[in-house]
Amino acid sequence: MQEDVLEISGVSKRFGGIQALDNVHFSLARGEIHALLGENGAGKSTLMNIVSGIYPQDSGSIALNGETVDLRTPLSAKRRGIIKVHQELQLVPEMSVAQNIFLGNELVSRFGRVDFETMVARADEMLKSLEAEFSARIVTRRLSTAQMQMVEIAKALLNRFTVLILDEPTASLTMRETEQLFKTMRSLRANGKSIIYISHRLDEIFEVCDRVTVLRDGKYVGAADVAAMTKDGLIRMMTQRDISHERFNATSNATDEIVLSAKGYSDGRHFHDVDFDLHRGEILGFSGLVGAGRTELMRAVIGVDGKVAGELFVHGVRVTINSPKDAKRAGIMLVPEDRKLQGFVAGMTNYQNVSLSNLRKFAKCRLLDFRKRDRAVDGITRALNVQPDDNILQTSRLSGGNQQKVVLSKAVNAAPEILILDEPTRGIDVNAKNEIYLLMKKLASEGKSIIMISSELPEILSLSDRIVVMYEGRVTGVLHGSDATEEDVIRRAIGGETT
Ligand SMILES: Nc1ncnc2c1ncn2[C@@H]1O[C@H](COP(=O)(O)OP(=O)(O)OP(=O)(O)O)[C@@H](O)[C@H]1O
Ligand SMILES: [Mg+2]
Repeated sequence: MQEDVLEISGVSKRFGGIQALDNVHFSLARGEIHALLGENGAGKSTLMNIVSGIYPQDSGSIALNGETVDLRTPLSAKRRGIIKVHQELQLVPEMSVAQNIFLGNELVSRFGRVDFETMVARADEMLKSLEAEFSARIVTRRLSTAQMQMVEIAKALLNRFTVLILDEPTASLTMRETEQLFKTMRSLRANGKSIIYISHRLDEIFEVCDRVTVLRDGKYVGAADVAAMTKDGLIRMMTQRDISHERFNATSNATDEIVLSAKGYSDGRHFHDVDFDLHRGEILGFSGLVGAGRTELMRAVIGVDGKVAGELFVHGVRVTINSPKDAKRAGIMLVPEDRKLQGFVAGMTNYQNVSLSNLRKFAKCRLLDFRKRDRAVDGITRALNVQPDDNILQTSRLSGGNQQKVVLSKAVNAAPEILILDEPTRGIDVNAKNEIYLLMKKLASEGKSIIMISSELPEILSLSDRIVVMYEGRVTGVLHGSDATEEDVIRRAIGGETT
């Protein structure tokens, strides 16, 4: 019989009026990669926070190697070998990689001095075992997100972890970096380590996980071997309903009127000589590999990164946009990819955060008409099914996916004529994605124009009226959305074909 490293039995947790977890079970075997799956707000992060000692459960028990344990603090969980790699990486940017890995465990020489050289050598060894391609000597802030994750894992190795928790680690990784992470995970598994893996990307679960446990509304739904499951089967477990793969662009709201056009846009680094037109009522998809320059291009359009070469026209009139404020005045708004950092104010309620993007709408004799505001905000967040359905809650208290919906609600409240969405469904579960797609369609039908950057092909193909494909900063094709195929897009996205 395979031995369970971790056994969670009947764990419940309540936050105020919200039952985040209700009698949840979970068991993790030695040397397995176990996916934890569920819709936004299902309780995945809460369960992992309990296991890593961030807060205590209300009831239920946790056993490690057969022994019931009390994981009161992050430190006690860590001492017992449970390590969670935080989404917001917790490294000190100004320190070297080796210093970060050994932070709190510094090696000291016989003469009481910190033994930097030995730490570097050991850190390099660890990084090599993870097949990382950077030296422990370099300063941490120079690493990519993926590389920083690698440092966190190396740190976990130093602490001789038995259970590693990865909560949506691939959200900001490129395809290659994701593959690298999977390789690392497999080699850790081969060494008898156990990993709990949270991701909304079902493909990844089939690629790298052995077993899966599904939660729904804080309750345990079931566990299964991944090999015995299908994608549709998993979706059904998560949502208890079948999801249709709709082609939203079968009908289009795009008109002939051009609302925005860029000519010869270049920043000399990330994108070169880019032209595109956006029509009224159109959903224009931007596809490409991560790093193709799409984000930088759109940031340039709204004037974030200073001067670039090229011309921009709004309704045929040449405009100069030097700041997001200028962009807003021209009716253009960008919802960035990095929503956690830029999207909302932590201490504010959903009412405050959503209305912030356009307070003037709710003004009454220089005061705020709270009733009007609350009604408007409720209308928007309900259309997106933000859960829990109570906007008096602080946005920072919501689950990751629901926070993202609040940020989108904020953009809807601003009601710009041109809305640029960078990866609008990242971190959002399969079911909630549909709600966002319907919202985008609704905005388009009201005559708004939308640019959507997305790295998910099914999403690009199902929503875009036209698809602009970029490769290494250049446009390699503009396709008609409703009849484009995955292959058409991929070939251009890898620079294999240009039209
Ligand atoms: N600190 C907190 N205070 C109040 N409520 C919380 C807190 N943390 C989580 N919740 C609530 O508990 C529920 C479960 O949230 P959790 O973050 O565990 O979901 P999740 O499965 O990780 O979702 P996602 O996929 O969106 O990240 C949600 O309704 C959330 O609003
Ligand atoms: Mg979460």
